[in-house]
Amino acid sequence: MHERIGALVLAAGKGTRMKSDAPKVLKTLLGEPMLRYGLDALAALFGERVFTVVGHRAEMVEAAFPGMAGRFVLQAEQRGTGHALAAALPRLAAEGLGYVLVVNGDAPLVTAESLRAFVDTALAEAADLAFVTIEVPEAGAYGRVVRRDGAVRIVEAKDYDASRDGPVTGEINAGVYLLRLGAVAPLVAEIGNDNKSGEYYITDLVALAGGAGLSVLAVNRGPDPAYLGINSPRELVAAEELLRRRRVEELLEAGVIIRAAESVRIGPAVSVAPGVELCGPLELYGHTAVALGAAIASHNVLRDATIGENAVVHAFCHLEGARVAAGAQVGPYARLRPGAVLEEGARVGNFVEMKKAVLGRGAKASHLTYLGDASVGAEANIGAGTITCNYDGVHKHKTVIGEKAFIGSNSALVAPVTIGAGALVGAGSVITSDVPDGALALGRGRQVTKSRK
Ligand code: UD1
Ligand code: MG
Repeated sequence: MHERIGALVLAAGKGTRMKSDAPKVLKTLLGEPMLRYGLDALAALFGERVFTVVGHRAEMVEAAFPGMAGRFVLQAEQRGTGHALAAALPRLAAEGLGYVLVVNGDAPLVTAESLRAFVDTALAEAADLAFVTIEVPEAGAYGRVVRRDGAVRIVEAKDYDASRDGPVTGEINAGVYLLRLGAVAPLVAEIGNDNKSGEYYITDLVALAGGAGLSVLAVNRGPDPAYLGINSPRELVAAEELLRRRRVEELLEAGVIIRAAESVRIGPAVSVAPGVELCGPLELYGHTAVALGAAIASHNVLRDATIGENAVVHAFCHLEGARVAAGAQVGPYARLRPGAVLEEGARVGNFVEMKKAVLGRGAKASHLTYLGDASVGAEANIGAGTITCNYDGVHKHKTVIGEKAFIGSNSALVAPVTIGAGALVGAGSVITSDVPDGALALGRGRQVTKSRK
């Protein structure tokens, strides 16, 4: 896109109607903060020329987008969308932008294609100020588009007066504006706050630009849900549902088998190979990637998990930051925390938890086990009830288990400790010192059996 065009996202507001102290733009949809959707769409069009106005809990919003560092503008007090734009003008000028596409941070359904089409139209029409309008059945809290005597204005919901502004038409302001800065920037200082909210509205620029004889263009996108803004919990979940369906449809179209698709939730950065079998209810978030031939049963939650070719995740598992290599099997009822790795053909079964632990090729931990800060060699067998005692109350320590070792059931391996390759640990042992390769270790009281008298 034209090199002198950049984008500005307004994301400083508190989101009072969301009834939460956390910034509205960090509320998640399909596991990703609302703001990410707009930023991703804009990055596709403008690369690094995307700036964001932050204010309410600014440090928290900035921390959520490290890739945007240096491209935030602070609006210390939130006195309205016009005030937010004013706060950003010096930065936009310093960047040498000729045009800026301003987008509300609470519109996660917008797509890059749709924004591009709008910008193309506005540029083709040589508009000084263009904005997107949509048709809705209920104008609700949206700004109303009022067209009278050949001029167009936006009247905010609270300030709307039917006797002055005429009947509601259902055409509302979507909160997306293209401004030719040379013409429009001087008008920003003229925005007042003499209205029901006492706020400076960016939407007043429309009437100001018209009054100054600039060319103003309202681009009507019809009943397009992609521009809906999110102001309340109800709107949040409704938008999330639209995004969810959009994503599931894309994947079905690409050849993923999705059963019970109405209860499958897949984030925007998740990748699923064609032919993979998924069954709802299911949640796949973050950078989860599922390779060819893999299957994920119902009632699973995966975040930033990598599932290799032909691997299977049985029902009722939680995986986060875990890697499951080709042909490995997980669950049912397993929990893989960050740093859990199953190498090829490895298996974890029910009620097994792993954290920063590698289960080597073909190794098994089939039942009731905790493996934390551990490495388990290929083809080792971890018996039911094995616990790596990795934490001494102050520090974490490592357990190393060699290839083909066999850990008998109900053993406690007190780290730091190494069990050699091919070693055998008797059931019920508490192992506190290293076991050499091929050795048998028993760390338990000997059974005493006496006659009963
Ligand atoms: C705004 C528009 C309205 C439009 C609607 C579309 C104004 C005055 N009204 O209303 O015409 O129909 O969007 O969804 O613009 N923000 C700041 N600083 C502030 C205040 C808000 O950065 O001081 C940010 C918010 O974080 C939000 C965006 O601007 O992302 C829009 O603010 P919001 O309060 O949601 O405006 P709406 O009432 O939805
Ligand atoms: Mg809004």
